[in-house]
Amino acid sequence: KLPEYVKVVEVGPRDGLQNEKEAIPAEVKIELVNRLSSAGFANIEAASFVSPKWVPQMATSAEVMAGITRREGTIYSALTPNMKGFEAALAAGAAEVVIFSSASEAFAQKNINCSIEESIARFQDVAAAAKANGIRLRGSISCSFGCPYQGAVEPAAVADVVRRMRDLGCDEIDIADTIGTGTARHVQQVMQTVASEFPLTQIAGHFHDTYGQALANIYASLETGVAIFHSSVAGLGGCPYAKGATGNVATEDVLYLLHGLGIRTGIDLDQVVDAGQFISAHLGRPAASRAGNALAAK
Ligand code: HMG
Ligand code: MG
Repeated sequence: KLPEYVKVVEVGPRDGLQNEKEAIPAEVKIELVNRLSSAGFANIEAASFVSPKWVPQMATSAEVMAGITRREGTIYSALTPNMKGFEAALAAGAAEVVIFSSASEAFAQKNINCSIEESIARFQDVAAAAKANGIRLRGSISCSFGCPYQGAVEPAAVADVVRRMRDLGCDEIDIADTIGTGTARHVQQVMQTVASEFPLTQIAGHFHDTYGQALANIYASLETGVAIFHSSVAGLGGCPYAKGATGNVATEDVLYLLHGLGIRTGIDLDQVVDAGQFISAHLGRPAASRAGNALAAK
């Protein structure tokens, strides 16, 4: 039986835009977030307080968080790899912070410059500070279905990081397919494995669509009981530390699937389509969303 309600977390302003080469003005990012807020998302990943040397595009995060019009009922999240990031997120008024590690040792080194073990140790302070300030804590696990550097990743390795993030006090944990190589049965196997460590109702599927498998993987996850998914408007994105990785699954496509299944999301698809056309026009390329472009052409 499929869930009646699914929480779709819009990650376009962060995951989608972080890899863009040209600096996008803060006003454009603010307009994008505002349009997404109006569409009704319960959660928008709007910022990332990481080193600007590593990810220059996110250097405007404080400005973006200060400039957006906050909608009641929407949680605005920010990535925080360490205490420096947490302090910035707190000052910016983020209601949820995201600590991020990996199920693959090789990827953790490339992405956050430390081992998985070290990352968890580093997150202890962030987790404690989040709790002390009443801020929601989310954990994200990259390379849960494969790694660009080490190849195969065992479901047990994912479950191990899920357990550690649970012990840090995470309210929600993202199982991320960074390079999009996962397929439906594999995804179900990983979701069922991690369910022994953390409630599936607090697990999110974060699928990049590099191999065109994301929608199938979402459907497969729905069948196992997962009811939170991440997506990027217009299919924006790619990870700076996963060469060749393309964007997250497009939000418009995910909403089209979910609404077609009779699943409630609380999100207005037409407004998301408009937001997707807006940011794509700014970037000077067509939206990477089949449903988005089809609906926009109507
Ligand atoms: P490091 O160099 O090991 O750390 O970076 P450090 O503590 O030695 O700091 C080095 C410099 O960075 C210092 O500046 C710090 O002040 C500065 P300097 O003294 O050289 O001038 N710094 C910071 N500046 C601003 N904000 C901060 C911050 N921290 C340190 N928070 C670090 C370690 C983790 C910071 C670095 O590796 C980093 O920022 N990496 C970026 C990782 C990233 O953003 N990746 C993309 C997002 S994750 C993702 O996309 C995956 C996901 O979507 C799921 C999936 O699909 O897989 C979530
Ligand atoms: Mg990602």
